[in-house]
Amino acid sequence: MKKEIFFVGVDDKTLDLFEGQYPISNGISYNSYLLKGSKNILMDTVDKRKTEEWLKKVEEALDGELLDYLVISHLEPDHSASIQKLCEKYPEIKLIGNSKTFAMLPQFYRQNEENQKIIVEDQTVLEIGDRKLQFFLAPMVHWPEVMMTYEIEEKILFSADAFGTFDVAESKEKWEKEARRYYYNIVGKYGLPVQNLLGKLKEVPIQKIYPLHGPVLTENLVYYLEKYRIWSLSEPEKDGVLVVYNSIYGNTKKAVEELEKILKEEGIEDVVLRDITRQDSSEILAEAFYYDKMIVAATTYDGGIFPAIENFLRRLKSKNYQKRTVGLIENGSWGPVAGKCMKEILEQMKEIIICEQMVTIKTSYEELQKEQMHLLVQELKESK
Ligand code: FEO
Repeated sequence: MKKEIFFVGVDDKTLDLFEGQYPISNGISYNSYLLKGSKNILMDTVDKRKTEEWLKKVEEALDGELLDYLVISHLEPDHSASIQKLCEKYPEIKLIGNSKTFAMLPQFYRQNEENQKIIVEDQTVLEIGDRKLQFFLAPMVHWPEVMMTYEIEEKILFSADAFGTFDVAESKEKWEKEARRYYYNIVGKYGLPVQNLLGKLKEVPIQKIYPLHGPVLTENLVYYLEKYRIWSLSEPEKDGVLVVYNSIYGNTKKAVEELEKILKEEGIEDVVLRDITRQDSSEILAEAFYYDKMIVAATTYDGGIFPAIENFLRRLKSKNYQKRTVGLIENGSWGPVAGKCMKEILEQMKEIIICEQMVTIKTSYEELQKEQMHLLVQELKESK
């Protein structure tokens, strides 16, 4: 019996928004793997949008053999939605999961009583046919029932959502950008569980990582593991300034363009301007974590903050944005309060230095603000 691993995942290139909110311009893959040997083991299922295409791939890879086991790494529907159809097609299949998997399973597949269930605990090793699998529970990376599987002989880590990207399986070029966006938007709130997991895996000799989205990682794993270490700690990766703004009539935009000039005159080369209403906010959120400094420029709106900026700041808070320096620019024609309101949200975050110099614009950018802008840039430069 030849031992072989088949990729039986599928790309989804027609979904508009992943999880109903994240743009995926290049599509996304739902990965699934068939471990063939004296027993055949399937790693995860796929989103219901792709069930039939995936079942066909599994059948072709089985090539007439029986399917013996399904490992359920994660129950979010992008991976669990085809469990029922799989069990109907292969009624003898045994399910492998942890106690949380099986407590939650009826929410995703009600008629599961027929299938034998094998419950594993953290670091349980199972000998299945001619393979040895070790399971690592990874609660909250990204749901409580998540677990990873280590194929001991081939040294492969099946890593669930971790190391995944907003991208199709064949695409490696954009791994860093899309994996960062995936991490901070989807898993980012759970930095501590990711650190716990990386700690558990420290002594495990991993040679390949097979995630549930995006490409299989087979080389230079130190790079990927290091990225996850940095991201889990919410550490900045780049000295530079992200400027996030909204502009109703173009005045705040003009102000941030002036700000960009001043930043560059002062020797800060890496400056990016992002219009919160016209660019993908999940990308901007990932950039906020990438850079060590940020300036937010918002108009006052309904006695508070322009809604898209307020929403962005609240999302940063929910993703545990921390360890950064932030400057503020507010605009308001008669009662500018956006700055004060933004400060109140930022003060709820950990280790955020808020520059004392706030720039206040009354409708249009004038000489007075230029002076404030210079002071803000100086303060930002001096901040570590
Ligand atoms: Fe890819 Fe948390 O699901």
